[in-house]
Amino acid sequence: MKQWLKDAVFYEIYPQSFYDTNGDGIGDLKGIIEKLDYIKELGCNALWINPCFDSPFKDAGYDVRDYKLIAPRYGTNADAKALFEAAHAKGIHVLLDLVPGHTSEEHAWFKESSKPEKNEYSDRYIWTDSCFSAGDGMPFIGGETDRNGTYILNFFKCQPALNYGYGKCREKWQMPTDAPGPRATVEAVKDVMRFWLDMGCDGFRVDMASSLVKNDTHHKKYTCAIWRDIAAMLDKEYPEAALLSEWNQPRQSLKNGFDMDFMLEWQGNGYSWLMRNYDGAIDSDPHNIGKAYFCADSGTGIDKFLDDWLPSYKATRKDGLYCLITCNHDTIRPSAGLTPDELKIAYAMLFTLPGAPFVYYGDEIGMRYLPLPTKEGGYFRTGSRTPMQWDNSANKGFSTAAADKLYLPVDDAADAPTVAAQQADPDSLWHTVQGVLNFRHSHRDLDSDAPFHVRFAPKAKGSYRPFAWERGKLICAVNPAREEAELPLKLEDGTRVLHVIGKAEVKGDELVLGAQSFAILG
Ligand code: GLC
Ligand code: CA
Repeated sequence: MKQWLKDAVFYEIYPQSFYDTNGDGIGDLKGIIEKLDYIKELGCNALWINPCFDSPFKDAGYDVRDYKLIAPRYGTNADAKALFEAAHAKGIHVLLDLVPGHTSEEHAWFKESSKPEKNEYSDRYIWTDSCFSAGDGMPFIGGETDRNGTYILNFFKCQPALNYGYGKCREKWQMPTDAPGPRATVEAVKDVMRFWLDMGCDGFRVDMASSLVKNDTHHKKYTCAIWRDIAAMLDKEYPEAALLSEWNQPRQSLKNGFDMDFMLEWQGNGYSWLMRNYDGAIDSDPHNIGKAYFCADSGTGIDKFLDDWLPSYKATRKDGLYCLITCNHDTIRPSAGLTPDELKIAYAMLFTLPGAPFVYYGDEIGMRYLPLPTKEGGYFRTGSRTPMQWDNSANKGFSTAAADKLYLPVDDAADAPTVAAQQADPDSLWHTVQGVLNFRHSHRDLDSDAPFHVRFAPKAKGSYRPFAWERGKLICAVNPAREEAELPLKLEDGTRVLHVIGKAEVKGDELVLGAQSFAILG
């Protein structure tokens, strides 16, 4: 476990929408540099920046055209270097977003690979051997290139799959993972990683990390082997660099080289249960609002979350961190279904469970999900990608551009939350987030890898919904319901309430926890 991850709290930045310093309507790297003090003050000491590389932006930058060039709209490579340096000077680590599964169809490798003449990049992507062949179950494109073959896609049409080979080869155009083409792809990815690590970044969030090898049916055996190989390179050459996967399978990711994996929102899973639990997450109109555990009136217990999260946590707690997020750029913001009071205690729980927590920019003020037309392949996700709301000046302080020149419209509702307003209000969500994160940083028992045990989690009966957990000598407890609750925690003499949101009181050996309250005892 890398030492810096013990106390790491991440802030995810969608660079398009964070802060625009040159008035062109889109966020930039200089804007991130200017806001580092803000991020630090909030209580975050690490960043994950969504892809900021040269791209035609058909998938918001997840379609990389040049892995080694900062997209001009965000600045220059020199700005990236300046960002790493400024961040480090403030004790902030920076993860970039590595997209190893595919590139843009405009990447120079793909252009070379599309040529009929055999060349260095012919096997960099997965090609069939005829312009009429289907993709053996994978999505494919034909008829677009002079090369007589179809190519396999990894995500959207603009994202051809890089060739890491096949776990099980069924067609003669499929290569085993140890063939020269697939091996060269792995080395090319290592080369990209070295490029940014040498410049000063601290690691990578890895996009679709499980997607590398195709037909990799046996527990992703071959994809896992690639990640072990890459992690071994990092251990040797960059021992402090961190690897974080978009995988949502910690038993695979954390046991095969990743330091961290995410628990992601999938309809009906344990994470969804906490703050969303609605259907329709893919049509920009979430239904069933009010069903989440943290909704005051949902009547649900914590069990569905624990049933999913706990076995994975227990199976991997020695291997790495299974991380909880407030949201991300692919997910509907939690404020769509939770009130600010509900968000306060939901975040407090996420920030005091094991793992390194992730705050998605703007969630600290409860920024809203805005149903908007799609932008850069965002579709329903676009509504979670709007400009950060700094203050009540023009464009909510995001940019000095004319409103119609902005990357996306700002939330112009009269009561749209802003950083400035919430910093001025001691009861705001912003201050609640800051309070819990500060508490976390000053207690080693809340380190990302410090012990965790369930203390009290009765199956939901009627409205009885509180949940309590131990972190070393500390006990944390949450009560999302509208009724006060008595938790029979068998507290030791002298146990005190150290931090509270709402109301909490120790009575004898019990904790009396107010409605919609959270407390840390010790
Ligand atoms: C990941 C990203 C998402 C992107 C996709 C394809 O899921 O988080 O935003 O569209 O991969 O790269
Ligand atoms: Ca700009």
